Amino acid sequence: MESAEYYQEQLKKQEKLASLGLLSAGIAHEVQNPLNFVINFSKTSQKLLRDISEIIDDNKDKLSKEDLEDLDLASEDLHQNMEKIISHAERAVNIVRDILLMSRGKENEFLPTDVCRVVKEYVWLSYHSMRANFKNFNISIKEQYQAGAPLMKVIPQDLSRAVLNVMNNACYAVWQKQQSVQDDYKPEISVSVNFTDSQIIIKIADNGEGMSDEVKQKLYENFFTTKPAGQGTGLGMAITRDIIENKHGGKISFTSELGKGTEFKFEVPIKK
Ligand SMILES: Nc1ncnc2c1ncn2[C@@H]1O[C@H](COP(=O)(O)OP(=O)(O)OP(=O)(O)O)[C@@H](O)[C@H]1O
Ligand SMILES: [Mg+2]
Repeated sequence: MESAEYYQEQLKKQEKLASLGLLSAGIAHEVQNPLNFVINFSKTSQKLLRDISEIIDDNKDKLSKEDLEDLDLASEDLHQNMEKIISHAERAVNIVRDILLMSRGKENEFLPTDVCRVVKEYVWLSYHSMRANFKNFNISIKEQYQAGAPLMKVIPQDLSRAVLNVMNNACYAVWQKQQSVQDDYKPEISVSVNFTDSQIIIKIADNGEGMSDEVKQKLYENFFTTKPAGQGTGLGMAITRDIIENKHGGKISFTSELGKGTEFKFEVPIKK
């Protein structure tokens, strides 16, 4: 049994996370401006490059074959680099916009949200933070998002938190399994978001270590964890259930088989 000080410590950690949210909103805001510069200057450079290519084209006959080839190769590379700079910067702008959206909402505020994009963003956020923290962490992620969904009213910062919690657990489960089995194991996580007339259905499935009956029973208890100290507080699933069931009036369920894997499902009613 853990001591009262231990619980105090864990609660403090949660509070720190909340102020981290404010901090990241501030940073996101500051990052937006330089990113816009990157995009605008890249687009201008792209146009200049096209002009230069045209001039070269017009003066083909004045250049040696070799020079012409070198110029063609270089301008092709430059074109591609510019495309990449723009597309990556636009991706960063989207992430920043999401962070701002998450933190702008007042507590418990339902906001029209692109659910697929939020899920995708946090799935990859989790993946990258796992990669930063665990050596040799490499998994394949399969994604399926139902296209053409309108914005849906959810509490974005809470829904993203729920996705992050379940995704972190899934990553950890496949990583754990990878440590204990032979080479031919291919860690995999499948994520899907679908919509019916009345519900958003989010599924996150892993082929990790799965759960024993005891773990299944205690899964949602506060501070229940099987992870070593410092790697889990045991609050993730308790918070997630609260978010899905109490805050969104939805349902969370799972199936899990020891040694095979686990699938979590969120069913969230669509608010009109
Ligand atoms: N996908 C999963 N596969 C296997 N076990 C899982 C999975 N998800 C949760 N568990 C088990 O449930 C326990 C509780 O999960 P929970 O997310 O609440 O806490 P935690 O991950 O240990 O800590 P944290 O508070 O950092 O999330 C985990 O320690 C793990 O044993
Ligand atoms: Mg967890």
